[in-house]
Amino acid sequence: MGIFSRSSISRKSKDGMKIIATAFFGVTFGFLIGISFPSLSITKVSLPTNFLPSNDLSSIEEKGSKIATPESHKAWSSSKGNDSSSSVPIDKSKIWVPSNPRGAEMLPPGMVAAESDFYLRRLWGLPQEDLTSEPKYLATFTVGINQKANIDACVKKFSENFTIVLFHYDGQVTEWDEFEWSKTAIHISVRKQTKWWYAKRFLHPHIVARYDYIFIWDEDLGVEHFNAEEYIKMVKKHGLEISQPGLEPNQGLTWQMTKRRGDMEVHKITEERPGWCSDPHLPPCAAFVEIMAPVFSRNAWRCVWHVIQNDLVHGWGLDFALRRCVEPAHEKIGVVDSQWVVHQSFPSLGNQGEATDGKAPWQGVTKFFISLSC
Ligand SMILES: *[C@@H]1O[C@H](CO)[C@@H](O)[C@H](O)[C@H]1NC(C)=O
Ligand SMILES: *[C@@H]1O[C@H](CO)[C@@H](O)[C@H](O)[C@H]1NC(C)=O
Repeated sequence: MGIFSRSSISRKSKDGMKIIATAFFGVTFGFLIGISFPSLSITKVSLPTNFLPSNDLSSIEEKGSKIATPESHKAWSSSKGNDSSSSVPIDKSKIWVPSNPRGAEMLPPGMVAAESDFYLRRLWGLPQEDLTSEPKYLATFTVGINQKANIDACVKKFSENFTIVLFHYDGQVTEWDEFEWSKTAIHISVRKQTKWWYAKRFLHPHIVARYDYIFIWDEDLGVEHFNAEEYIKMVKKHGLEISQPGLEPNQGLTWQMTKRRGDMEVHKITEERPGWCSDPHLPPCAAFVEIMAPVFSRNAWRCVWHVIQNDLVHGWGLDFALRRCVEPAHEKIGVVDSQWVVHQSFPSLGNQGEATDGKAPWQGVTKFFISLSC
């Protein structure tokens, strides 16, 4: 309109015929308004019903919104391309990406964030400048305040390349604030649960997908001779998908497999007492670690998470089932001897459970694993 009126004004000044020009301008203006209004209303009313199926409108809204990405635009335009040729336009024009996670198939792939992490975010600034570091490893401990000193010693053996998660089974959380590292750790507090309960609920493979290795440890390990970075180097070097540090032989019965050997970096096979192993490649002679200090690769954990039953409390039997998650198990499960820990066997809820009503905690372990390992 602006351009038209300017040009009509200049024509008017050239000719000097004010009245004619004004009349001409008025007529033209009126004519244009007259044309444009009906055409606008045609567009508004008839396009959605006649040309575009109604769900394409939502695609258009999607496309215009801030969340939409170039991929979403692509998905939209390709689906729109077949609208006119299809006999049932409403269904065909829907976005349906079978490779999306289940339940998210109608989303443009660029809109889907299927995985997460434990990285802390600031509340200000540009999102892409948000993370100063992205730890590649995850260390979790199931803790009570009584083991504060031991956990502090433990965490100090893990570098800044680890995200630290504490599962509190005694409801005491702020008590840990005296440690500087605690301020950036993830604290999850649920009373009187054991570590496999926490692991099942809070370490879903999609949540911990950013971490190459996941440590799921008890609170009573002596770590004087352990360094987490060195441990990771050993695990990578020997291709271990599931591992644990060697255990310094202490009092009581222990498996031969998990005992530290002084002369090796890593071992994967051992000899047990006669008659204990039906097959030298099967637990407890190989393909075996205990559940007090396991370390999983991302891929192994994707499987092991599924093996953990929701009613698994103490984890007994899980050690014998781990081998089902890696192939070949006797080569990818092993014990790291050069970085070793001492099992101090403090009584604790996190790893031992509590006797209730005079019943030992292992009474009531599900029969599931017993049937699995046979
Ligand atoms: C569009 O339809 C044609 C034939 O009807 C088909 O070959 C083509 O794959 C379709 N394109 C999309 C993006 O669905
Ligand atoms: C953390 O990881 C980086 C990159 O892999 C490595 O260069 C660095 O040495 C690691 N930090 C420690 C303390 O090992």
